[in-house]
Amino acid sequence: MMLTPSEKFQNQLKEEIIDNRLAVSGFIHMMVGDLIGEGETRTVYDCALSPALVIKHEPNQTMHNVLEWEIYKDLEGNKNKLKKWLAEPVMLSPCGRWLIMEKTSPPPPSFIYPKKMPKALRDFHNENFGLIDGKFVCHDYGSIPLITDPESNKRVKVKWRRYSGEV
Ligand SMILES: Nc1ncnc2c1ncn2[C@@H]1O[C@H](COP(=O)(O)OP(=O)(O)O)[C@@H](O)[C@H]1O
Ligand SMILES: [Mg+2]
Repeated sequence: MMLTPSEKFQNQLKEEIIDNRLAVSGFIHMMVGDLIGEGETRTVYDCALSPALVIKHEPNQTMHNVLEWEIYKDLEGNKNKLKKWLAEPVMLSPCGRWLIMEKTSPPPPSFIYPKKMPKALRDFHNENFGLIDGKFVCHDYGSIPLITDPESNKRVKVKWRRYSGEV
C-alpha cells in the first residue's frame, strides 16, 4: 500500500518521538540512583555521577528547583552570609524539572539542633536540613521569602519540628 506524503511524515515523526523518548529515559536511568526522600513537590535520588550529589525531580511547575537555584546564585553575587546555611545547587535543567545539588546526611540522633537560626529559613522542619562535612545546612529552601530582606540573616529562636511532631 502506497503512503501519502502526509502519512509518511506522520510515521517519521512517530519514530522520532519514540527514539527521543528512548534516548531521554536511557539517559535518566544512567544518572538517577536510589530514592533518598520525598517531599510535597519533589522526589530526591542519589546521583550516579558522585556520592556527594543528589538529583531532585520536580514533575509539576511548582518552581522550587528554579527558586533554589536563583536564591543561591543571587546570594553568590552579594555579601549576604545566608549562603553558608544552604546546600549548593550544582546544575539546573532548562525546564527546571531536574536539579543536581550537594548531598547532605541526616544528623545523628545525638545531634543538637541550633537554638537560633537565620530568620529567612523559616521552615524549621528537621527533614529540611542535613550535614555536609559536619556543617549544618538547609536542603529545602525553594519556598523561603524574599532574600533581599536585610533582616533575612537575623538570628531568631527556633522551635524544631518533625512533620509528625517535635524533635
Ligand atoms: N541535598 C539533599 N541531600 C540529601 N537529601 C536531600 C537533599 N534534598 C532533599 N533531600 C531529601 O529529600 C526529601 C525531599 O526533598 P525536599 O527538598 O524537602 O522536597 P520538597 O520541596 O518537595 O519538600 C527531604 O526531606 C530529604 O529527605
Ligand atoms: Mg521538604
